[in-house]
Amino acid sequence: MPPLPLLIDCDPGIDDALALLLAAAAPGLALHAVTCVAGNRPVEQTAPNARRILDLAGAHGVPVHAGCGRPLAQAEPRSNLVHGADGLGGVELPLQGRVDPRHAVDVLIDALQTAPAGTLHLVALGPLTNLALAELRASGVLKRAARIDIMGGSADRPGNVTPHAEFNFHCDPLAADIVLKSGADVQVFGLDVTAQTEMSEAWRASLATLGTPVALAAHAMLQAYAHIDPLLHDACPVAALIDPTLFSGETRRMRVEWRDTESEGRLVTATTDADASAAAISQGGSGSWGQGRLITTVDNARLLALVRDSVASLPREIANS
Ligand code: BDR
Ligand code: CA
Repeated sequence: MPPLPLLIDCDPGIDDALALLLAAAAPGLALHAVTCVAGNRPVEQTAPNARRILDLAGAHGVPVHAGCGRPLAQAEPRSNLVHGADGLGGVELPLQGRVDPRHAVDVLIDALQTAPAGTLHLVALGPLTNLALAELRASGVLKRAARIDIMGGSADRPGNVTPHAEFNFHCDPLAADIVLKSGADVQVFGLDVTAQTEMSEAWRASLATLGTPVALAAHAMLQAYAHIDPLLHDACPVAALIDPTLFSGETRRMRVEWRDTESEGRLVTATTDADASAAAISQGGSGSWGQGRLITTVDNARLLALVRDSVASLPREIANS
């Protein structure tokens, strides 16, 4: 089987960094480009951070593009300091290459329109601003993706930034709603599943014992982050492309509450048409829903083994595709 062509949109971020390492190490994935967005940190930091991580992995030929610096419907980005002021836990990595000057949204539209429909995979690990803007500019373009695997939301459990909302969906709730209603084939890896991806101290220590520059950097980043958020959120959508048997889920109707209320950023789901109508009536909403697969379980032991083995295999030279 030829490797799956893939584009990752992200906001590194330490778990984003682990996801990029996982993708760079996977022989079954062909990482064509990485696009960046404001999220954990401003886009002026997330894009160079992605470049640093790809260079660390040996993926010098994979271009990095900066995209939107603020959400669709708010004047200011909603960043956090969970990943440190530099987004990589204070782990200094050299910036060897440069960020490509083409805008992320242009790259997304172009890549989706150029690849045969249903062939290019998208993975989204930050706020969905770049993807939503691509859809607003080129209506129907997201449906051309083979699938969009998204880390974001929290359907059946509380959020991690408000009682209702997970960080990525809270950063740009309107964008998340647009993407979920785009008609694309989507899989959502929210806190429902990522809360199961705890990294034990022993597992983190096992990275250090690998002793390679990539493993030592990964270990140092995770040590800076794990005491605040010991979960490998963003690795999940990439891992699902490498080994879909790690995860299970179910189809649901989905939308995101984007109005400026206390539930702003909440992922609302329904399992049946009747549930969807009842929810629309009780919440006074418009009744408009998208549909996707909500991922609900992961085999975390196998996920951690995959991530460790992948880190151990790097660097792996990836030239320009
Ligand atoms: C998400 O928020 C960010 O801090 C992480 O990178 C991840 O994408 C988890 O809620
Ligand atoms: Ca992220």
